[in-house]
Amino acid sequence: MDLIQGIMERRSIRQFLDKEVPNEDLEEIIRIASWAPSGANQQMWKFIIVKNKNILDQMSRLVADKIDRLAEETGYSELVRMKAYSTFFNKAPATIAVFMEPYKNKAEEVLRAAGYSEERLQRLRGNAGIQSIGAVIQNILLAAHAKGYGTCWMCAPIIAAPEIEKILEVEEPWQLKALIPIGKPASIPKAPSRKPLTEILKIIE
Ligand SMILES: Cc1cc2nc3c(=O)[nH]c(=O)nc-3n(C[C@H](O)[C@H](O)[C@H](O)COP(=O)(O)O)c2cc1C
Repeated sequence: MDLIQGIMERRSIRQFLDKEVPNEDLEEIIRIASWAPSGANQQMWKFIIVKNKNILDQMSRLVADKIDRLAEETGYSELVRMKAYSTFFNKAPATIAVFMEPYKNKAEEVLRAAGYSEERLQRLRGNAGIQSIGAVIQNILLAAHAKGYGTCWMCAPIIAAPEIEKILEVEEPWQLKALIPIGKPASIPKAPSRKPLTEILKIIE
């Protein structure tokens, strides 16, 4: 598949056919994705792919329960509307859980020791760990698309990150950063529009 065509034609897929994704395809997608750039080539990612339906249902329920609990706690009942975009990953034949370990960097250590808050520090350092995770996730989506699979980059389920980490037996310092359901698309949505170049680009000559 042409790279540019692949980038432009990939869509977020939220409905999947009930068709298994072979492990060889999943392994190949992760192998390709791992060629993403990362800060100091630290490759601060790891992946757990869940195909077990009971575990996927359990994870999805944890997310729904957490949203309910937060809606009650905050009195903001609108939160419950998030559920539709947060829980559907259990309907896919497989879901890739993406984990990150902290980016290790001497300059950041020194700033931390000097009392810089994490927010102030990352303002000066650019969140290299998270940027690297974004790169590997986009590679997963594109590699999967090239192999005829649909995916959806999901951050909403992170609301239940501690609970999901527990059932997947993932320990500190690793943290869940995204879930990516993957499978053959049951339907392909229309492309949401993009901002015009005039709004997002300025060239200074
Ligand atoms: C960081 C990030 C988090 C996202 N989280 C969710 C999510 O939790 N649930 C969901 O349904 N879609 C999620 N999306 C998908 C976006 O809604 C989607 O990419 C956007 O609407 C553009 O559509 P397209 O991917 O089909 O081009 C997320 C995308 C990104 C990049």
